[in-house]
Amino acid sequence: MAQNQLFDLTGQVALVTGAGSGLGRDAARAYAASGAAVALLDVNTDGINALERELTDAGHRALAITTDVASEEQVRDAIDTAKETLGDIDIVLNDAGIFARDSAETFTDEEWDRVFAVNLKSILLTTRYVIDGFKARGYGKIVNISSVNARYVEADDTYVRDSYYSSKAAVLGLTRALAARYAKYGVTVNAIGPGLFKTGITANNFEAEGFAEAYNKVNPSGRYGRDGELNGTVLFLSSHASDYVQGQFIIVDGGYSLV
Ligand SMILES: NC(=O)c1ccc[n+]([C@@H]2O[C@H](COP(=O)([O-])OP(=O)(O)OC[C@H]3O[C@@H](n4cnc5c(N)ncnc54)[C@H](O)[C@@H]3O)[C@@H](O)[C@H]2O)c1
Repeated sequence: MAQNQLFDLTGQVALVTGAGSGLGRDAARAYAASGAAVALLDVNTDGINALERELTDAGHRALAITTDVASEEQVRDAIDTAKETLGDIDIVLNDAGIFARDSAETFTDEEWDRVFAVNLKSILLTTRYVIDGFKARGYGKIVNISSVNARYVEADDTYVRDSYYSSKAAVLGLTRALAARYAKYGVTVNAIGPGLFKTGITANNFEAEGFAEAYNKVNPSGRYGRDGELNGTVLFLSSHASDYVQGQFIIVDGGYSLV
């Protein structure tokens, strides 16, 4: 591999869950700009349709496929459709995620199970339907979006979301298990822990008066993440640049978790 092509994705196919907004949408744009065709999966049909238009208008190959990543049938069908239209998949970015306000005292079975199905089980499902192709071609990249909250949680009752914290920590365990299992096939599996970015999932927080200012004060970088600032790490873990990196967790939070 020529050193100047380490991050090049020309001719590859990337599948992005949660591509309808926020960090997944940003990542899909970065994949396309790096030469990959992108399959855009989300329950937010308007979001992925708009992104498909934006990317195809700019000359890229993109396909929106409305998919609930917690449904095995829908994930299987989406991956079949993506392969038929765009070709064999090389990269999966498992980005779709949700949270619920819950704790040991307040959780309901339904909410708890839903958070774990979307944030964790979805990774097993996408892997199940791409892994044969990865093995056959001796190459594949799985990148799981966890959270800085996999390691560090908030004690403040405003942020009580125990299913989120624990599902994001479980993503790290699953990342290590998949990495160890599939490394011999040339497949890498790694996770990213974003700190605070202004997206759909955090929009409510930003509406609270003083929220951004308080956060910026404690983050050594003095600010929350900007649009696109996760993309360097996403591209690293999705390209030949990371072929010997296995089961790792990279936190991208401007130093928030250092202090
Ligand atoms: N924004 C942050 O500060 C932050 C911090 C740490 C981790 N994260 C993680 O980043 C990932 C992306 O979140 P975001 O910040 O871009 O928020 P977002 O809400 O803008 O994006 C999440 C996307 O996932 C989609 N989604 C939700 N449930 C789905 C399902 N069942 N099937 C398919 N798609 C589904 C949503 O429709 C949405 O488009 C999530 O896993 C989130 O936990 C975000």
